[in-house]
This record gives sequence, C-alpha cells and structure tokens, in this order.
Amino acid sequence: MTEHSAKLERKPVWDIYVRLFHWTLAASILFAWWSGTTGGYVNETFSLLGLSLSLKFDVMTWHMYAGYTVLALVLFRLMWGFAGSYYARFTQFVYSPSATLRYTGQMLTGKAPHHLGHNPLGGWMVLLLLLLAAAQAGTGLFANDEVFIEGPLASLVSSSMSVEITRWHRWLFDILLIAIGLHLLGVIYHQLFKREKLVQAMLHGRKPAAADAPSYPFAPFLRGLLLALVAAAIVWSLLNLL
Ligand code: HEM
Repeated sequence: MTEHSAKLERKPVWDIYVRLFHWTLAASILFAWWSGTTGGYVNETFSLLGLSLSLKFDVMTWHMYAGYTVLALVLFRLMWGFAGSYYARFTQFVYSPSATLRYTGQMLTGKAPHHLGHNPLGGWMVLLLLLLAAAQAGTGLFANDEVFIEGPLASLVSSSMSVEITRWHRWLFDILLIAIGLHLLGVIYHQLFKREKLVQAMLHGRKPAAADAPSYPFAPFLRGLLLALVAAAIVWSLLNLL
C-alpha cells in the first residue's frame, strides 16, 4: 500500500509542542556544541541584500543560555509525557524490557510490526536522550573553566567539586553525541530502508495510517502553553533564587 492509497489517511501523531520541542532541542544542542568548542567573542559584520549587519556576542554567555533552554525543554517534555497528546505520553511509547527485546528480535528478522508513534527501541532512545540532555545541561550549571567563566550554581559547591563536575560535563557530551548518532542512524534506517517519512512527520505532525485505525486528537494548545511557561518559570527560579 502507498501513502496515496485510498485506504490510508493522515493521522495526527506529533503535536505542535513535540515538534517545537524537538527542533529547538536539536538546535540548542548544536549551538551548545559549537559555542562550547569555540568560546571567545564573535564580532562580525555581514552584508546581506545590501544591508550591513553586525553580530557581536560573548559566545560562552550564549552557550549558557543554550543550556538553560535545554533544561526548560526537557522539563517541559517530562510534563508533556504525562499530560500531552496521546503519542507524546510515556505510557504510549515506553515498553517493558521484554517487549523491547521481542521487538528487536522481530526487527532483526525483518518482521517488526509498524508503530505510528515511537517504536519500543525508539521509546527507550527518547528517554536516554532526555536523560543525557538534562545531565549535560545540569552539570553545566555547576561547571567552571578555572579562568573566565563559571556556571550560575558553581558557587554552591566547592571549587574542587566544580572542577570534577566540569570533567563530567565534558565526557557526558561525548556520550550524548554517540546517543544522537544512534538516534540519527535509527531515523535514517526507517527513512531510507523502510520508506517511512519520519522527518516529514516531525515537521508537519501527521503520519499515514489505515483509515479505520483509531485517531487521537492533539491535546489542547493552552495546556501546552501553560506547561511551557511553568517549565520556563522553574528554570528561571532555579537560576535566580538559589
Ligand atoms: C538533523 C537532526 C535530527 C533529525 C533529522 C531528527 C529526527 C527525528 C525524528 C524523525 C524523530 C521521530 C522519530 C519517530 O518517529 O519515532 C525524532 C525524535 C526525537 N529526537 Fe531527533 N532528530 C535530529 C536531531 C536530534 C537531536 C540533536 C536530539 C537531541 C537530543 C534529538 C532528540 C530527539 C528526541 C528526544 C526525540 C523524541 C521526540 C519526542 O517524542 O518528544 N534529535 N527525531
């Protein structure tokens, strides 16, 4: 059956919050990677369509802003995993270890069932990525480079502890990069070999499914907005009130 078959319908899967969460998380991590390895100060002037634009910013200050964004995003995603749309909920995509092993076996023999949301392996990868992203940004709060810059909560721990946490902050990023690499391999496998349009679905939110399969409407927009504000407020309080 093709996507254009009369028996298929586009069903809502990834609501706007999951999609915004995903691409903002990917962009923040990419920016944190670049800024963390570059450092320094950007002072560039560009010419665009006859306009002269100047870009001036302290790279590590924005590295920290990227980290706060990651923390707020993960916090939001945790709440959305309980109160979000059907396919965003942990109960929908976190399978037991035995079901995940069964799925892996079926995948290796080419007999894995199709999942409209995250498949069992993908579900565990989502949890791992959330955990690593939170740990990466969380350790950054206590880190310091012993020269110019320190995380906003570094003064809450001893300086030797802060140096130790900075070491974790560095090697955790290598683990995070490996996990992202595996995530991308999984996406590429489904996209190219199984011909599932996963990336497009992460952009427009819908996936083709049998017309008579159940359809689950997205959670109310205002609920997501409220939870996003709560997540931002919690991170703001953490940074400003501690
Ligand atoms: C260009 C790079 C990327 C592409 C093309 C991409 C693509 C995707 C796609 C297609 C999905 C949905 C998978 C499914 O249908 O089950 C997904 C989910 C996810 N990706 Fe990525 N991804 C990228 C980068 C990243 C990065 C850098 C992270 C950072 C940790 C990340 C974290 C996640 C998470 C946490 C989910 C689960 C979304 C949710 O349920 O909220 N992705 N990604």
